[in-house]
Amino acid sequence: MAPTIAQRAAAPAATGIDFAGRITAWQSSHGRSGLPWQGTRDPYRVWLSEIMLQQTQVATVLDYFPRFLARLPDVRSLAEAPADVVLGLWSGLGYYSRARNLHRCAQRVMSDFGGEFPRSAEQLATLPGIGRSTASAIASFCWGERAAILDANVKRVLTRVMAYGADLARPAAERALWEIATDLLPRGDAPTLQSQMPRYTQGMMDLGATVCVQRNPLCLLCPVGDVCAGRAEGRPEAYPVKTKTLKRSAESWWLLVLRDAQGRVLLERRPDRGIWAGLHCTPIFQDRAQLDAFVARYATADAAQDLPVFLHVLTHKDLHLHPVDVTVVTPPAQDEPEGTRWASREEWAELGLPTPVRRLLAET
Ligand code: ADE
Repeated sequence: MAPTIAQRAAAPAATGIDFAGRITAWQSSHGRSGLPWQGTRDPYRVWLSEIMLQQTQVATVLDYFPRFLARLPDVRSLAEAPADVVLGLWSGLGYYSRARNLHRCAQRVMSDFGGEFPRSAEQLATLPGIGRSTASAIASFCWGERAAILDANVKRVLTRVMAYGADLARPAAERALWEIATDLLPRGDAPTLQSQMPRYTQGMMDLGATVCVQRNPLCLLCPVGDVCAGRAEGRPEAYPVKTKTLKRSAESWWLLVLRDAQGRVLLERRPDRGIWAGLHCTPIFQDRAQLDAFVARYATADAAQDLPVFLHVLTHKDLHLHPVDVTVVTPPAQDEPEGTRWASREEWAELGLPTPVRRLLAET
């Protein structure tokens, strides 16, 4: 096997193989193409797709992306849209802070940049919801900026190629990997970068997503497999190294599915912070006694019907959801609590609802 990149040089791009050339050539013949956000350099479309793709599979985004654009075709329409419309279009994609930041970002582009996205990764990274890697992806796709991305897929590719064993939980180790990522980028004059950077960026994403996968990487199909130090060691899966483990916790929530005589359900808007922030949801209670006390406003205790408990897994937390179904015969004499509303099926279908709550309402 040829010497690995790590064995060749401290400055791999300068002295090793033509790493960037291999990645771009591989992207042309084996990378993903024809995706709706690839045929454009419109920053609005590229930005929207990158935010959607951050924690969501391509197949799912293929469904949401055109629908979002059809309703909100440009940054102005997004900035001016009501928050509920944005959350409604995002409903089902999860990680709703992305949708709230998207909305805020569009408003900042309008107020601070005259409706045009700033044209450098550095400035893009000052906007809500755009981290360093996403800023680089947008700037390289739209303007060919020589800026490195370093999302989870790319970290895997680079740490394996370099057999980079430093613990990425340490900021210094991550900083050094950014430098390696930057060093490996295509080089050349502005027109060269214009044409090479989008393909290189897409190639690194595609390589991590389709070949250099977490388990059982397909090293025989890898365009840099012959110089991969992780592979040469016989243990590509040992990389990346990251010690910090996620601390998980669990909670039980009681969800009240309260219906009136017309079949409408009572929804409340979640607070601006915390789980499902800003979404519409059935009223949630921390225990059954609190739920029963609330139901007493509307019905006798025997009107409550317990539905099967189900689990909803969040990044940091397991939620054990206990739905309770109650149909109100006579509405309460007092006004509804602040922040709540009755919504028909047609109305709640359009609102931003957490996916398990939408499913629960659809199935009951
Ligand atoms: N993940 C993040 N950005 C992506 C892109 N542009 N194409 C495919 N997957 C991605």
